[in-house]
Amino acid sequence: MKIAIRYQSRGGNTKEVAEAIAKAAGITAESIENPIVEYVDLLFIGGGVYKWGIDSSLINYLGNLDPGLVKSVAAFTTAGGMDKTKTILSIVEGKGINAEKETLPIKMGIRNHAWLGGKGSIKLNEKQIHSINKFVKACLKS
Ligand SMILES: Cc1cc2nc3c(=O)[nH]c(=O)nc-3n(C[C@H](O)[C@H](O)[C@H](O)COP(=O)(O)O)c2cc1C
Repeated sequence: MKIAIRYQSRGGNTKEVAEAIAKAAGITAESIENPIVEYVDLLFIGGGVYKWGIDSSLINYLGNLDPGLVKSVAAFTTAGGMDKTKTILSIVEGKGINAEKETLPIKMGIRNHAWLGGKGSIKLNEKQIHSINKFVKACLKS
């Protein structure tokens, strides 16, 4: 099974989550600066939530995905509190790409630095690491 991970991250939180997903899946996380150029069975893709939505760079990236190269997408987001994984999935489904049922909306709450105007990511807690591992396991099984 060929797997890839792409993330969009302004402040580093989503990058940190993407790297934890990558660790659990045994691959390397890459930013959305890197297009998908080879066929993948499963693409983990996620981004941060800014002003009630995902970043326009991620929307463009999703819109440009080639359904011939991506069979299925598993979505994750990081946010103060919002879950925008459905936004990601509705774009890919519109392109005829399968959307994994299991999603990973990570809530950072007031612990995240970006929300407070700071720079740099936070350390994920044990509960978050557990959800990440559970998410990866479920997506790899389906
Ligand atoms: C400009 C800005 C706007 C944000 N807007 C929201 C929002 O509308 N809803 C929410 O739940 N979190 C919001 N957040 C919190 C971010 O979603 C959260 O910090 C996320 O982890 C950022 O990801 P990143 O560090 O990968 O960029 C916002 C953060 C920033 C910096």
